[in-house]
Amino acid sequence: MRRVPAGVWVLSVGPEGARGNITVSSLVPVSMEPPSVLVSINHSAEVYPLLEKADVFAANLLAPDQHEVAAHCAEHFEGEARFARGNWMENQGQSWLAGARAWLLCRTVQRMAFATHEIFIAEVESVALGDGQASALTYADGAYGSFSPF
Ligand SMILES: Cc1cc2nc3c(=O)[nH]c(=O)nc-3n(C[C@H](O)[C@H](O)[C@H](O)COP(=O)(O)O)c2cc1C
Repeated sequence: MRRVPAGVWVLSVGPEGARGNITVSSLVPVSMEPPSVLVSINHSAEVYPLLEKADVFAANLLAPDQHEVAAHCAEHFEGEARFARGNWMENQGQSWLAGARAWLLCRTVQRMAFATHEIFIAEVESVALGDGQASALTYADGAYGSFSPF
């Protein structure tokens, strides 16, 4: 799977003071009716207990200039230290990463455990788009890069 170039998201859950985040590439669409996605989260992740209890979470699709935020949110920082990189804003009880390429508000509707991971299926309640930059942050072969159309 390292060979597959993937988009990079940071999931964030909860308000400032009681929040967590995690860098993920496993977020993929499920259906359009209703708009829905799935994401696979390791049970050992710091954010897992928060995600398990929360009804909703935010999904921030990263732009290429946010690769340092992606790297930070993939490390073992605890609590508020996970938000030390990036320009985080509060809205609807969630933290959102300013400058992202797109933002989804996701409501978990089903969960399934498989081995080390929990698969969350979530309906997308709202979508917002960034400033229309054509490029996106990607991850492949253990390295960050960027996608641009021909
Ligand atoms: C590009 C990238 C994609 C990742 N995708 C996932 C993912 O889909 N699910 C997951 O559980 N962890 C994923 N990880 C690993 C988590 O980001 C990382 O284990 C976690 O944030 C480490 O902190 P923690 O163990 O304190 O939670 C990914 C890491 C990177 C760099």
